Amino acid sequence: MASAAALAAVAVMVAMLAAEASATITYDRKAVVVNGQRRILLSGSIHYPRSVPEMWPDLIQKAKDGGLDVVQTYVFWNGHEPSPGQYYFEGRYDLVRFIKLVKQAGLYVHLRIGPYVCAEWNFGTDNEPFKAEMQKFTTKIVNMMKSEGLFEWQGGPIILSQIENEFGPLEWDQGEPAKAYASWAANMALALNTGVPWVMCKEDDAPDPIINTCNGFYCDWFSPNKPHKPTMWTEAWTAWYTGFGIPVPHRPVEDLAYGVAKFIQKGGSFVNYYMYHGGTNFGRTAGGPFIATSYDYDAPIDEYGLLREPKWGHLRDLHKAIKLCEPALVAGDPIVTSLGNAQQDEQFLSNGKNPTLTVMSAGHALHVFINGQLTGTVYGSVDNPKLTYTGDAKLWAGSNTISCLSISVGLPNVGEHFETWNAGILGPVTLHGLNEGRRDLTWQKWTYQVGLKGEALSLHSLSGSSSVEWGEPMQKQPLAWYKAFFNAPDGDEPLALDMSSMGKGQIWINGQGIGRYWPGYKAFGTCGSCDYRGEYDDKKCQTNCGDSSQRWYHVPRSWLNPTGNLLVIFEEWGGDPTGISMVKRTTGSICADVSEWQPSMKNWRTKDYEKAKIHLQCDHGRKITDIKFASFGTPEGSCGSYSEGGCHAHKSYDIFWKNCIGQERCGVSVVPDVFGGDPCPGKMKRAVVEAVCS
Ligand code: GAL
Repeated sequence: MASAAALAAVAVMVAMLAAEASATITYDRKAVVVNGQRRILLSGSIHYPRSVPEMWPDLIQKAKDGGLDVVQTYVFWNGHEPSPGQYYFEGRYDLVRFIKLVKQAGLYVHLRIGPYVCAEWNFGTDNEPFKAEMQKFTTKIVNMMKSEGLFEWQGGPIILSQIENEFGPLEWDQGEPAKAYASWAANMALALNTGVPWVMCKEDDAPDPIINTCNGFYCDWFSPNKPHKPTMWTEAWTAWYTGFGIPVPHRPVEDLAYGVAKFIQKGGSFVNYYMYHGGTNFGRTAGGPFIATSYDYDAPIDEYGLLREPKWGHLRDLHKAIKLCEPALVAGDPIVTSLGNAQQDEQFLSNGKNPTLTVMSAGHALHVFINGQLTGTVYGSVDNPKLTYTGDAKLWAGSNTISCLSISVGLPNVGEHFETWNAGILGPVTLHGLNEGRRDLTWQKWTYQVGLKGEALSLHSLSGSSSVEWGEPMQKQPLAWYKAFFNAPDGDEPLALDMSSMGKGQIWINGQGIGRYWPGYKAFGTCGSCDYRGEYDDKKCQTNCGDSSQRWYHVPRSWLNPTGNLLVIFEEWGGDPTGISMVKRTTGSICADVSEWQPSMKNWRTKDYEKAKIHLQCDHGRKITDIKFASFGTPEGSCGSYSEGGCHAHKSYDIFWKNCIGQERCGVSVVPDVFGGDPCPGKMKRAVVEAVCS
């Protein structure tokens, strides 16, 4: 008779075999293997709460049309735990709905469960209670995915998951305890039996069978920690996030495409664009000091859901080229031949001379009030968020009141700073220059959030806003609440508020948090011409120097009623609310630049090359109304600033005018005959055009 132990062993083996038999996603040293096939997988990050559900189908379709196989997202939470173990999955946080839409479009999902996600998102901290919640949260998410049948072996789209996020660097810093935590997290994840591979990004000691992956602007140098694991790039940064007070980063698509092609050439088989659609940090979700409300990221799909060209199209063509080579790329190893080389306390005192007030704060912005009067405002910066206020304190004889309002713009990103400090808590406040000499005061520590009182009264909601008396609007009034009603603009173009007349504050529409605004903070840094050649970093191709880092604030159309929308603004600095306007986001100019011998993806195998052709297309419902520039020859410059070169066909304008004006889309072949003959025989010519859609 078999012993109980032997029976148990048999039972375990049977269970393992069953699990293996149903495992349809595996991997080997070359690639992730989907249903027995090694795949080159092209993926893009779309963070679902950074847009609205009404936008999701279109964003996903644009990702598919751009040649992606996979949509990658973190699992986001919004800080609510309605009851223990329950999290908020409604509206923009409806993860299941999002994943099902990806499935409907025929794409896969890479689910980064975290729960620590970084991602410039609020609510991510590494404190003990958060860690204690980790297993509960991860288990909850995995079970939810299983019960909805969303893993690939269940017929769902999820082919990969991620535990933790970039924990490796903390291990270098903190040593053994951090290593022990990473190993605990890995084993906890594995025990959840998702049936799809787990990855850990930037985690050199990810234990088997977890795949360690690379994040960065380039990853062609990267190889995984074991030879039997595939080479994966979980974050190919398409540019960088925008911060208040710094210039806006852009990454030229030529450089991004080069980085991706090189990674694939070196044996990489999974690339995820971070971000493919960046979107918006609505409400207070922007996490990390000075992170702006726009999370556009210069991504191939812009914040508003429109295609960003030429980025989107250039990458789509790259993806087509990579896919043509997929079987060869995953089949074997390349042969490389070397070619050689607050608030408040009270103080008193006075003498004739004004004392100097110094306030240090770990918050990001500070208003100082002396005897009820705003006497100064100071703020830090992305690079150096902590601040020190120094100013004259005009005191009167007797008792004086000094109040400090300390503001945080997003929580500190603990993962990056390896340091715990509380945003918004005032440091020592000192008064210098008093006749008694220097006095160090002990201040009552407290945290204060912008608009706490107004928000407590629910001034941003219809009911709350009608519960108080509103006066005539005052301009340049700090710490003021404003409200106005407006009707939705007609059409279906994406909308934004132009806040350039305002300083700093928050916006709500119909009770929904649009986000923080801070156009009064002008971007300080170096902007200039942008050469795609050479190594890219986030300081390389910047714009907006001397201007607001963010002037426009995305208003999802689905948050508006046809009439009577309530706009509430809380302004901290003092601005002119009558200067606020609602603008429509449209693609103004469209450009194309195609050479005579541009290879065609369709018939690259045949010798009979299809003639190169320019295709122009406006957003749906719009038509080409003007040709700003056209030249067949050797034109110079780039979209927005083209000029004629030494060789130019005189009919260039006429041809585009004739074929395109009044059309939503048009095509013109790039051959001399079309342009009335060859303007410079023997030279390779290009056709370049800038057209206006309206
Ligand atoms: C990565 C991180 C992402 C995001 C990114 C910067 O290191 O994994 O979550 O924070 O940096 O946008």
